[in-house]
Amino acid sequence: MTPSSVQRATPAEAATVAKLLHDFNTECDTESPGIPVLTERLTAMLATDRTLAYLGGDPARGVALLTSRPNVWYATPVWLLDDLYVEPEVRGEGIGGALIERILADASAARVAAVEILVDAPDVDAQRFYERHGFHGVEPVTGERAYYYALELS
Ligand SMILES: CC(C)(COP(=O)(O)OP(=O)(O)OC[C@H]1O[C@@H](n2cnc3c(N)ncnc32)[C@H](O)[C@@H]1OP(=O)(O)O)[C@@H](O)C(=O)NCCC(=O)NCCS
Repeated sequence: MTPSSVQRATPAEAATVAKLLHDFNTECDTESPGIPVLTERLTAMLATDRTLAYLGGDPARGVALLTSRPNVWYATPVWLLDDLYVEPEVRGEGIGGALIERILADASAARVAAVEILVDAPDVDAQRFYERHGFHGVEPVTGERAYYYALELS
């Protein structure tokens, strides 16, 4: 496997993206609608320019899923990294780093204004990983920490 091998996923690769996302949620004891449902959703979503997925490794052992949205404070879109996952057996081999670097290169090429990530407070390994790639969890000027609030509506 070449850790630096990263591909942008097409709708035809929706099942591979779905399997890795399902594995991520299963590992985290988080509910998943299951691979068939995720595959169906991703097949439609990946056909638009609002959802992007990347596969890392050959065969794929890591995945990144992003959504793109307009933001009134910027002239160009903002990308949100919804999920980043590398299979446990191959962590620490550079696949996650290669995914992030490819995302940042494509974001720059697409003139994306900012890339945002939500990280849980106890997930200090992921925080260190993102900080090493240039992200910050505090407002750079004021030093204030950002909090993410959500309300799930059924
Ligand atoms: C975070 C993650 C995507 C990094 O992918 P990776 O391929 O292991 O990353 P790389 O090999 O390029 O870099 C290794 C770095 O990842 C971070 N990391 C986070 N969790 C890790 C883990 N369980 N094992 C190894 N590295 C991990 C560390 O910062 C590590 O560097 P360091 O410990 O030497 O400082 C991957 O570890 C993962 O899938 N973790 C579980 C899911 C997760 O936390 N996703 C992010 C949610 S916001």
